[in-house]
Amino acid sequence: MQRFLTPTDIGELQKALEDAHAVKASPYADQTLGKNKTLLLIFFNASLRTRLSTQRAAMNLGMNVIVLDVNKDSWKLETETGVIMDSDKPEHIKEAVPVMGQYCDIIGVRSFAKFESKEEDYSESIINQFINYSGVPVISLESATRHPLQAFADIITIEENKTTERPKVVLTWAPHPRALPQAVPNSFVEWMKEADVDLTITHPEGYELAPEFMEGVNFEADQNIAFKNADFIYAKNWASYNSYGKILTKDLSWTVTEEKMALTNNAKFMHCLPVRRNMIVSDKVIESENSLVIPQAANRVVSAQVVLQRMLQVIAEEEDF
Ligand code: CP
Repeated sequence: MQRFLTPTDIGELQKALEDAHAVKASPYADQTLGKNKTLLLIFFNASLRTRLSTQRAAMNLGMNVIVLDVNKDSWKLETETGVIMDSDKPEHIKEAVPVMGQYCDIIGVRSFAKFESKEEDYSESIINQFINYSGVPVISLESATRHPLQAFADIITIEENKTTERPKVVLTWAPHPRALPQAVPNSFVEWMKEADVDLTITHPEGYELAPEFMEGVNFEADQNIAFKNADFIYAKNWASYNSYGKILTKDLSWTVTEEKMALTNNAKFMHCLPVRRNMIVSDKVIESENSLVIPQAANRVVSAQVVLQRMLQVIAEEEDF
């Protein structure tokens, strides 16, 4: 595996879930696989879970880890092509990325949507420059349009907690004070389409995801109807795609409350975190016994470890060749 951005990159989902189960049962079984191998984690944006869980996954595999917060620890990087570099950015990403590739065996990159241009964000220009110029395998730690390590952890969590063969999973928009990217809902939908689940999306008017993600997905405009018979409620805020990056409403009637959860089939509550309490979800729901937010975050180590393991196996095969 040379890159990890979409479910296609990990191959057959069932096999990936079996690998996740094996990693969880024996997290230190492959401690020699990462010996003398280095993972470089590059952050253009803040992180708690992604940073710690990916480091932990690498350590479980015996890897060395270097973390670079580009905004604090490095030269500011120019990411536009063809510009006269007379601003406060003294280094171009086209030199910085291949240099980074000299110091490691795998790179993970976090680079959020900037919301300056839909075309720019959806072209995934930052992570694609890492894929094109680093010379090493690249993992998305959340790019402009996708958060695959989160979605893989989400599906592991659903598999572990489902009580029916084909659970009803509802992705609900919920209010937030700031404009957030579509990466988490995009990847969640993309991965759920690969899984054996009955997926419904509910959101206020104007919050449709990009057509390639909405295609083939059941949509219900009424959140209360969507919640009926749900086995999993996955709450998330995202800014508008069509009115790109805009907040169209902060309607608190979309907050996930005990009353809303009572409409479901005793559903489990999920959120990727960090979460704004009493905007996205009430204190009582997130603290209830049906809340999966902590085991969901714990599974971020598992999803990262499966991806790293596969990349290290390819590197080992290439070295043996
Ligand atoms: N869910 C998630 O990616 O969390 P962080 O932003 O803290 O990494």
